[in-house]
Amino acid sequence: MILVTGGLGYIGSHTIVELLNNGYDVVVLDNLSNTSIDVKDKIKKITGKDFKVYIGDILDKELENKIFKENKIDAVIHFAGLKAVGESSVIPLEYYKNNVEGTLHLLEVMKANNCKSLVFSSSATVYGAQDIQPLKESAPLQDPTNPYGRTKRMIEDILKDLYKSDNSWNIILLRYFNPIGAHQSGLIGEKPNGIPNNLMPYITQTAIGVRDHLNVFGNDYKTHDGTGVRDYIHVVDLARGHVLALNKINKDKKESKGNLDIYNLGTGVGYSVLDIVNTFKKVNNIDVPYVIAPRRAGDIDCCYADPTKAYKELGFKCEKNLSDMCKDSWNFQKNLNEN
Ligand code: NAD
Ligand code: UFG
Repeated sequence: MILVTGGLGYIGSHTIVELLNNGYDVVVLDNLSNTSIDVKDKIKKITGKDFKVYIGDILDKELENKIFKENKIDAVIHFAGLKAVGESSVIPLEYYKNNVEGTLHLLEVMKANNCKSLVFSSSATVYGAQDIQPLKESAPLQDPTNPYGRTKRMIEDILKDLYKSDNSWNIILLRYFNPIGAHQSGLIGEKPNGIPNNLMPYITQTAIGVRDHLNVFGNDYKTHDGTGVRDYIHVVDLARGHVLALNKINKDKKESKGNLDIYNLGTGVGYSVLDIVNTFKKVNNIDVPYVIAPRRAGDIDCCYADPTKAYKELGFKCEKNLSDMCKDSWNFQKNLNEN
């Protein structure tokens, strides 16, 4: 049984679909701070399988202990946390509490229950600004420039220290690049609260008419068309990466090996903001009005992954392309507005 914290969120929900489809049983802990309980029924509809959800907080050790007592948890995939970069500078204490303290509580409960297998959601943000692209896992990390990114960096450090102190742990840190897209069914996807910070939800809301136009933040970056370049990855591919990570942990455990591994989950290809807008318009046959706006504070020119290590060691390879990402994001947005 796999405990999935934050399992009803954007990446968690897609991961649960892949886990259930690959024969894993799951139990979820989510406080619903950034999702709603109906996601459970949507996952059930997609997979035809049911699973237990505990509504509660990763800061609540008593509840976490209860979950471990009531279920035989073999491993944890830890998604729960706050993730808005801009907001993290406004309410940093909430970010450190939820993300860092929440993770510490989870780790204490795991240790007390002798569960030492963990997949953690880290982020490409831990690399900070880097001159050399694509990014390899071995790149020396730079300051992530915002409290959210620092929580990820701190948790990575905590997990590395934990493994050093007891190398019977099996820990995989997955550094996600930019997840977009949605499940092909259109039933689950990303539903941001309020005005979206991220590019794709802003594009879909502009295309549907909720937003007047997209602001393209800067066209004077050192990139092929001057707009920012990122490594966009389909959330279903990203979700499959978690199943492969768990398979690796299971293999290591069978050989009685502990490990701490770090993997980039990205496609290895960088697309600019205008590449995304133009592909979205073309494959969906819909207009996305935009204006060129000033640069957004804290943004970097370019960031994309070297995915070689995940390919070699996990067998991870992205199957979906940018057209799929744009089509599936749009399909989800249209479904949201119809239902
Ligand atoms: P999300 O907000 O959709 O999902 C997080 C889930 O955790 C939500 O369902 C929320 O209700 C829950 N949650 C939050 N705080 C909690 C707490 N204290 N206790 C219990 N549940 C709690 O976010 P997501 O995009 O699915 O991201 C999942 C993880 O991946 C996060 O840790 C995020 O930082 C990381 N990540 C996301 C991205 C991205 O661009 N989406 C990129 C890199 C890393
Ligand atoms: N952008 C716009 N207009 C918008 C929103 C974004 O032009 O309205 C541009 C940005 O300037 C950037 C690109 O689109 O060049 C992508 O921006 P996002 O906000 O979608 O993503 P980021 O790369 O800034 O950050 C995301 C997540 C972080 C995570 C990081 C690396 O928000 O949490 O990817 O994984 F850390």
